[in-house]
Amino acid sequence: MSIPAQRRTFAIISHPDAGKTTLTEKLLLFGGAIHAAGEVRARGQNRRARSDWMKIEQARGISVTSSVMTFERGGIVFNLLDTPGHEDFSEDTYRTLTAVDSAVMVIDAARGIEAQTRKLFEVCRLRDVPIITFINKVDREGRDPFELLDEVSDMLALDVAPLNWPAGMGGEFKGLYDLRTHEFLRPDGTGTNAAGETVQTGGLDDPQIDALCGPIAQRLRDQAELALGGYATLDAELYRKGALTPVLFGSALKDFGVEALIDALAEFAPSPRPQPAQRNGEAVAIDPGDPQVSGFVFKVQANMNPQHRDRIAFLRIASGKFRRGMKLRQVATGKAIAINSPIFFFAQDREIADEAFAGDIIGIPNHGVLRVGDSLVEKDDVSFTGIPNFAPEILRRVRLGDPTKSKQLRTALTDMAEEGVTQLFKPVIGSQWIVGVVGQLQLEVLISRLEAEYRVAASFEASPYETARWISGEPAEVKRFIEDNRPAMAEDRDGAPVFMARDNWELNYVTQRETAIRFSATRERA
Ligand code: G4P
Repeated sequence: MSIPAQRRTFAIISHPDAGKTTLTEKLLLFGGAIHAAGEVRARGQNRRARSDWMKIEQARGISVTSSVMTFERGGIVFNLLDTPGHEDFSEDTYRTLTAVDSAVMVIDAARGIEAQTRKLFEVCRLRDVPIITFINKVDREGRDPFELLDEVSDMLALDVAPLNWPAGMGGEFKGLYDLRTHEFLRPDGTGTNAAGETVQTGGLDDPQIDALCGPIAQRLRDQAELALGGYATLDAELYRKGALTPVLFGSALKDFGVEALIDALAEFAPSPRPQPAQRNGEAVAIDPGDPQVSGFVFKVQANMNPQHRDRIAFLRIASGKFRRGMKLRQVATGKAIAINSPIFFFAQDREIADEAFAGDIIGIPNHGVLRVGDSLVEKDDVSFTGIPNFAPEILRRVRLGDPTKSKQLRTALTDMAEEGVTQLFKPVIGSQWIVGVVGQLQLEVLISRLEAEYRVAASFEASPYETARWISGEPAEVKRFIEDNRPAMAEDRDGAPVFMARDNWELNYVTQRETAIRFSATRERA
């Protein structure tokens, strides 16, 4: 197997409380990356305690930042990218999903598909990211397994292929029956972190099933027969195309089905996929086997070390074999950047990365050079596509409490725009910056970080504008449009022209009238 073929780069998507943190922890335990349950959470709390602004996360019980965790099992390297689980749609989450090859969707067996799961699923579908479904918490009373599978199938328009079946749930739970191998995994009774005991049966008719399941043996037989006859069998191709989801029942808390999930990822989940890019204005796909190193920045995170205001850019390697000390060119600026201290992330540790391959994520410490959407290349002249900024849905004027702090304010806003937390617009007329965000939460994060990190007290006032679009077209037309609409025009941080509209009605009116101008709701880094 080639080295990229041994990589599985994936994310977990779920609604808050479905069990993402618990499952992450168990995956890391099985992968040998941590040694005791509770370490992921403990680490989270320590990290939070260190950093003031993250109080907002605690207060709202959410995790705003996301990170990468790598573990290895059976010769396969798993890169798990954490997606923030809060309710506001976040650009960060979207872009994290651009950097994975597959996803695991965790569903609470008592609740089925919930709002956030669905939203994240739609993002995965947009990019054809294949999904394995994990129906969690079977150790508790849950909904009927058929009802849950039908809900996944109907709501998400996906074929479902159950890989195992729960013998009862909650108080009745006797174990999990593997529909393909006929293995039966039963609790061994030693408590929380016991993966249980596997019994090889000869199939559903095997009398061992009666011994294992007691009074519910017949129910398991009936249900499993029905499931085998009524649902699709696993077709790896359909799964990789995003048309079918393999489904595993399990309990992250009790370690049930977690190992089967890792095995399913290893067996079916795609290795690094070709990444969409442009070369000389033409759409191309960069193959992971391409010997030239290339990659893209999907996230920039500040505060990883609160002592220094360092920022880490997360680079997904798209092709080639990266070696420490290599010089890569930032396509947007043409600048050569020597990557001397690239970082790998493990559950609790970071390590200097001496080499990395397609599918891997490396952290690059830098001071504002690298930005979200940046492409880094060894020689080739490609830029990766599909890592956009989104047109803001909330626009606010920034008002400074203390006018002597305007320089700090500028730095802070620029820093955070570089991280992709907010966007910054400079109106053509007037000097007050306008901050744009996609969701309310981003605004709260911004205010609390301005105070905690930059000691700047700022407030936000409503701006007359509600929405914005990047404009493009023939230079003469663009120039004319800007002149005609000066009060509503601004520039983004790259100097790209942005039209701000008071409401959707105005936006529609202008876009329909101005046929020579293209209005875009997203913009990608060059
Ligand atoms: P999240 O990251 O998706 O938000 O969920 P998290 O893992 O924090 O789990 C949410 C709650 O569900 C936690 O309980 C967790 O223990 C519980 N949970 C997760 N997986 C299972 C499972 O397989 N079975 C059962 N019965 N419970 C599960 P909590 O009481 O909110 O937190 P804690 O006090 O247990 O930490």
